[in-house]
Amino acid sequence: MANDAANATTARSTNNLEAFWMPFTANRQFKQAPRMLVAAEGMHYRSADGRKILDGTAGLWCVNAGHGRQGIADAVGAQIRELDYAPAFQMGHPKAFELAARLVTYMPPGIDHVFFTNSGSESVETGLKIALAYHKVKGDGGRFRLIGRERGYHGVNFGGISVGGIVANRKHFGTLLTGVDHIRHTHDPARNAFSRGQPEHGAEFADDLEKIVALHDPSTIAAVIVEPVAGSTGVLIPPKGYLEKLRAICDKHGILLIFDEVITGFGRLGVPFAVDYFGVTPDIVLTAKGVTNGVVPMGAVFVKKDIYETFMNGPEHLIEFFHGYTYSGNPVSSAAGIATLDIYEAEGLLTRGGELADYWADGLASLKDLPHVIDLRNCGLVGAIELEPIDGQPTKRAFTAFLEAFEKGLLIRTTGDIIALSPPLIITKEQIDELFDTLRGILKTLA
Ligand SMILES: Cc1ncc(COP(=O)(O)O)c(C=O)c1O
Repeated sequence: MANDAANATTARSTNNLEAFWMPFTANRQFKQAPRMLVAAEGMHYRSADGRKILDGTAGLWCVNAGHGRQGIADAVGAQIRELDYAPAFQMGHPKAFELAARLVTYMPPGIDHVFFTNSGSESVETGLKIALAYHKVKGDGGRFRLIGRERGYHGVNFGGISVGGIVANRKHFGTLLTGVDHIRHTHDPARNAFSRGQPEHGAEFADDLEKIVALHDPSTIAAVIVEPVAGSTGVLIPPKGYLEKLRAICDKHGILLIFDEVITGFGRLGVPFAVDYFGVTPDIVLTAKGVTNGVVPMGAVFVKKDIYETFMNGPEHLIEFFHGYTYSGNPVSSAAGIATLDIYEAEGLLTRGGELADYWADGLASLKDLPHVIDLRNCGLVGAIELEPIDGQPTKRAFTAFLEAFEKGLLIRTTGDIIALSPPLIITKEQIDELFDTLRGILKTLA
C-alpha cells in the first residue's frame, strides 16, 4: 500500500507536463512536442535544447524593453526585501502613488487618474464598471448598455468576452452580459489589402455606431469600447478618420469612449500610446502589457478627471467605488513599473518604434509576393501577414509556419491564419532583417 502510494507519487511527479492545463494552447500537440523556453536576454529566448530564439512577439506583446533587464530585477528584489506587500484597501504605500503620478504624465491633458489592476482582462472589467458606475453616480443610471465591436478582443473575463467579438472566445460561455451590442469590424481586404499603415477606406464603418445608438436610444448607452488597433484578432489597423468619427458620435450622445490600449500602450506604435498616434482622446484608457515589461502582472486604467471627480462625493469616510483587487498597485508590481518607466525614458523606447517604423514596414512589404500571402498590415512596430487558409483546415497553414519558425530560431504568434509580429522595442535593423529573412524562407516553401 505504502509502496503503491510512493509509486503513484513518483509517477505523478515525473509526468510533469500533464498537470498544467495550458491557456490558449493546443495542449495535446504541445505536450507531444513541447516548446520550452528556459532563459531570456535582450532580444532572445533560449530554448530547452539550447537554441537562441529571436523574440518576434515581445513575449506576448509585453516585454517592450527586451528581456532580462537588470534595473527591473534589482527594483523587484529590493522591493521584496523592503516591503513585500501592503494591503490595497484603506492603506497605501509610496510606490503605487509614485507610479500613478508618473504614468498619468504620459496621458493627454485631462486624463489624470489611474486605477491599478493585474492584467488586461482586469483592466477591461474595471473600465467597463467605471463607465457604468459613472453614469449611475451622475444620476444617469439609465445608461446601462455597453457597445463593443466584432472581432474585438478584451481579455477573457465575462465583461470582456461580452463586449469582445471573437466567436470562439464567447460561444461556450452562456448568455454573457446583457445589454451589449456590437458595431462592425473594420476589416475590408477588398478595398484595403496591402495598405501601408492606416487604410484609406472605411471611416464610414463608424457610422454603425449611429445606427446602434438610434436603435437602442442614446440615453441607454454607457460606453463604447474598442481597441485602437485590434491585435488579437489578427492586427486590424483603423481606417483613416474612423476613430475620430467614433469620438464625435460618442460626444454627440454623451457616451463614454474606452480605448483598450493593452497592446498599443507603451511605445508599440512608435509613440507612447495610441491616443498620441491617432490624436483621438477617449475618456478611459485601458493598459496592462508593457507596464512592468512583462515581469510581474500589472494593469492600469486611466480615466479623465471628470470621471474621478464624479465619484468623489458623499461623506468622506465612505468608499466611493466598490471595486479593487488584493494586488491592485502592490509594492512589487509598482516597483517593477517604476523601474520599467526608468528604462523606457532613459533609452527613449516609447518613441523608438517610430524611428524604426519605416524600416519595419519595408521589411514586411518585402514578403508581398510570397505564396499564400493575401494581406500585409503594419503600424509602428506591429506587423501582420495574412495567409490564405488551407481549404477545410483553417489555422493550419499559419500554425505550421509558427512551428517552423520556432525550429528556425524565431518566435512569432498566430491567430487564425494570420501571423502577428510585435518585437521588443529594442530590436535592431539587423534583427529586423533576420526576422523577415527567416519568415521569407518559411513562407517560400510553406505548403
Ligand atoms: C486589447 C487587449 N485587451 C485585453 C487583453 C487581455 O489581457 P490579459 O491577457 O493580460 O488579461 C489583451 C491580451 O492580449 C488584449 O490584447
